[in-house]
Amino acid sequence: MITAGLIKLSAALLCIIGLINGDDVTQTPLLWGDEGQSAKMNCSHEKDLTYSQMYWYRQRPGEGMKQIVFTIPDSPNKYESGFNESKFPAQKKEYQTGSLTVVKLLPEDSGVYFCAVSKHSDSGD
Ligand SMILES: *[C@@H]1O[C@H](CO)[C@@H](O)[C@H](O)[C@H]1NC(C)=O
Ligand SMILES: *[C@@H]1O[C@H](CO)[C@@H](O)[C@H](O)[C@H]1NC(C)=O
Repeated sequence: MITAGLIKLSAALLCIIGLINGDDVTQTPLLWGDEGQSAKMNCSHEKDLTYSQMYWYRQRPGEGMKQIVFTIPDSPNKYESGFNESKFPAQKKEYQTGSLTVVKLLPEDSGVYFCAVSKHSDSGD
């Protein structure tokens, strides 16, 4: 079982993607993409290997944070309704790293993307 209480947002790498066509700002962790391109965001952590679950969230201006996908090594990604693999392919091949790609960027993809990791275990919290 996965309980929301296990999500460690403090361990999250903050990824921000902004969409400004052709702008020249390239600053990490700010990621800028042109419309139609894909943008890949990486997330890694230094916690121990039990933190193998990775969640990706998106927060668009004026919206609450929404979960996009839940990933775990060697398992299919679990997408929330409204999100799918073809638009948001996510990779989780190793325990301490993962990535989320946003394919064919549109202006409405602009927002803040968060990654969070949690323990692969339901023992205590
Ligand atoms: C993500 O990681 C890949 C492979 O390690 C790298 O090529 C790419 O530049 C990284 N992307 C960002 C935004 O750091
Ligand atoms: C996946 O989501 C995108 C954007 O939300 C949508 O345009 C597309 O039709 C969806 N694809 C499938 C296969 O559901």
